[in-house]
Amino acid sequence: MAVGRFLREAATSLTTPLLPDDYLGLIDPLWSHRRLRGRVEALRPETADAATIVIRPGAGWKEHRAGQYVRVGVDVDGVWQWRPYSVSSPPGRPGGTFSITVKILVNGRLSPYLVERIRPGAIVRLEHPQGQFVLPRALPERLLFVTAGSGITPVMSILRGLALGDEMPDVVLVHSAPTRDAVIFGEELRELARRFPGLRLHERHTRTRAGRLTMTELATVCPDWAERAAWACGPPGLLADAEARWRRAGIADRLRVERFRPVTASEGGAGGRVRFARSGREVDADGDAPLLVVGESAGVLMPSGCRTGVCRSCVARLLSGRVRDLRTGREHGDTDDHIQTCVSATAGDIEIDL
Ligand SMILES: Cc1cc2nc3c(=O)[nH]c(=O)nc-3n(C[C@H](O)[C@H](O)[C@H](O)COP(=O)(O)OP(=O)(O)OC[C@H]3O[C@@H](n4cnc5c(N)ncnc54)[C@H](O)[C@@H]3O)c2cc1C
Ligand code: FES
Repeated sequence: MAVGRFLREAATSLTTPLLPDDYLGLIDPLWSHRRLRGRVEALRPETADAATIVIRPGAGWKEHRAGQYVRVGVDVDGVWQWRPYSVSSPPGRPGGTFSITVKILVNGRLSPYLVERIRPGAIVRLEHPQGQFVLPRALPERLLFVTAGSGITPVMSILRGLALGDEMPDVVLVHSAPTRDAVIFGEELRELARRFPGLRLHERHTRTRAGRLTMTELATVCPDWAERAAWACGPPGLLADAEARWRRAGIADRLRVERFRPVTASEGGAGGRVRFARSGREVDADGDAPLLVVGESAGVLMPSGCRTGVCRSCVARLLSGRVRDLRTGREHGDTDDHIQTCVSATAGDIEIDL
C-alpha cells in the first residue's frame, strides 16, 4: 500500500503538470486512479423504445448487489450527463461486464442517446453501485415484485441472480406494460417462469380492455400478497397506490419501493431568476423546474446522485431567496438554508452557492 502510494507520488512529480492517470488514460481509457470508467461493449435492443447497454468497467469497480443502481456519466454533444440506472445483469459480472437497460423518455437528454446513438467502444464514467432496493441477506420464503415499464430492470437483476442458484424461492412477479411486445425482457421472463415452477408471472397489458392494474385487484392475482416480502418499481401512480395499499393494511414496512423520478405533489409557483454565485451564471426558471435541471441546463456543475430526493448528494446552500419543495409544496429558505436541488424549485429570485 505504502509502496504503491510512493510510486504514484514519484510518477506524479515526474509527469506534472499532467497526472499519471492522464498518460495511462491515453494507453488504456479504462484505467484511472481518480475516476471510474467503463467501455460500452455491446448494445441489445429489448423493445421498440428500450435497449440494454453492456459495459466493461475499469479498475477499481465494486460488484453490485442485485437491485442496486449505478450513476453513469455520458458525454452527449460535449456535455456530461449523469443519470442513475439500475443494473439489469445479475451479480457476478459474467464475462467481466455488467448491463443497464434504458427506456427512452421522449425529449429526455440522455435516454434517447443511450438507446439510439451510443456505440460499442464509447467510454462512459461510472460511480460505484448503490441503493437499498435489494434482497435481505436472509432470503424470505415468499417474495412479491410489483413492477411496470422500465421498473422491471432492478427486479430482472434480482431474478437473474436467483435463477443462477439451484432453487427459485416462491416468487410472484406482477408486471404491467402497454402490450405484450412492450414488455422489457418479456421472452426471458416467460422462459424463467416455464423453467422455475416457484416463479409465477402475471403480465398485465394495459392497452387491453383490462386497463391499468389496481392494487385492489392484487388480492385476486396474489391472494397472500400481504404475507410476502414485497418490492415495487414503476411509475409514480403505481408506487403511490402500492404504498397506500400496504399502509392501509398496516404493513408498510414489508414493501420496498424504488423510484425513478421524484414524487411531485406541488404544481409549482411563478418561478424567478436563479443566480449561481460561484459559477457566475444566471438564468430564469419556471416554478416547477427542479433547480438541479435548471443548473445543468445553464452549464453549472451540479452535484447529484439519485435525482429523486433520497440520497442528499445534491444539497447546496441557499444564499438568498426562497424555494419550494416539489414533493410537499412547502416554501422555505431565505439565507443559509441547505436545499436539495433535485426536489426544489425557485419561489421568486434566489441565489445559490454553486
Ligand atoms: C434509482 C434510479 C434507477 C433508475 N433506473 C432506470 C432504469 O433502469 N432504466 C431507465 O430507463 N431509467 C432508469 N431511471 C431513470 C433515469 O435515471 C432517467 O431519469 C431517465 O432515463 C430519463 O433521463 P433523460 O436524461 O432521458 O431525461 P431528462 O432530460 O433527465 O428528463 C427530462 C424531463 O423529464 C422528467 N422526467 C425524468 N424522468 C422521467 C420519467 N421517468 N417519466 C417522465 N418524466 C420524467 C424530468 O424531471 C425532466 O424534467 C432510474 C432512475 C433512478 C432514480
Ligand atoms: S440527488 Fe439524491 S437527493 Fe438530490
